[in-house]
Amino acid sequence: MLKPPICRVGGKSRLRKTIIEMMPDHKCYIELFFGAGWVYFGKQPSKTEIINDIDKELINLYKMIKYHAPEIERQLEFEFSGRDIFEEYKHLNLEYLTEINRAVRFLYTITQSFAGKGCVYGYSTVGKPSQHIFYKNVLDELSERLKNTYAENLDFTRIIDKYDREYSFFFCDPPYFETCGYGNKFEEEEHIILRDKLKNIKGKFLLTINDHVKVREWYNGFNIKEVQVNYSVGKEKKSRGKYKELIITNYD
Ligand SMILES: C[S@@+](CC[C@H](N)C(=O)[O-])C[C@H]1O[C@@H](n2cnc3c(N)ncnc32)[C@H](O)[C@@H]1O
Repeated sequence: MLKPPICRVGGKSRLRKTIIEMMPDHKCYIELFFGAGWVYFGKQPSKTEIINDIDKELINLYKMIKYHAPEIERQLEFEFSGRDIFEEYKHLNLEYLTEINRAVRFLYTITQSFAGKGCVYGYSTVGKPSQHIFYKNVLDELSERLKNTYAENLDFTRIIDKYDREYSFFFCDPPYFETCGYGNKFEEEEHIILRDKLKNIKGKFLLTINDHVKVREWYNGFNIKEVQVNYSVGKEKKSRGKYKELIITNYD
């Protein structure tokens, strides 16, 4: 199983084996909310694959890894962890950067920030500086994996409309209901739109989401499996621990 180049809040590192085992037969694999892509990087390639995320910089990163991995590795080869460098990268004007430069900036700020959010320089009183900027010989494998994959940067509704067929399988890992977001609005309204779309697809779907009484109501009638997951995202003790998550499918 490959490891993604970045981490993302809500990433499916701990659940990916279970999710992969639950996938139905399909010809076209679509990941609507890609993030770090733990499931995609863990599974065997499908005949046709689409990865999608609304985050423009995130999708640009995967496109650049796909086409220009050696140049990204070269630009990061002598880079190191530092608060001043982090601030410099963070405040670069995207308008003046090439797509490769933007990918390098994104990789640096995500890997060197607290919880991979790209906002605040990540440091610790009990650990070492993040070593994860050294991508030499790492990105090649990911580039090879991405070679035959479409990378889209659209709202999930448009991707469902474009790619839904009887042989399609949608893996959906939307932002959790009533928890931290990703810079764009994803509230009850968007969750209901997603549910209504999934209700009417020709293909199959598997959705992962936090266990919430409203979520259970929305997906009443679908197959709902409860799983326990360990989280360790926050500095605070209260943001670590075991949480219940739901895996919802429209197939047995
Ligand atoms: C829970 S994360 C996905 C984590 C991913 N499964 C992983 O393993 O890293 C949710 C993702 O949905 C994306 N997102 C939020 N709103 C979206 C929308 N309307 N359409 C598509 N993607 C969206 C966010 O940018 C974020 O990367």
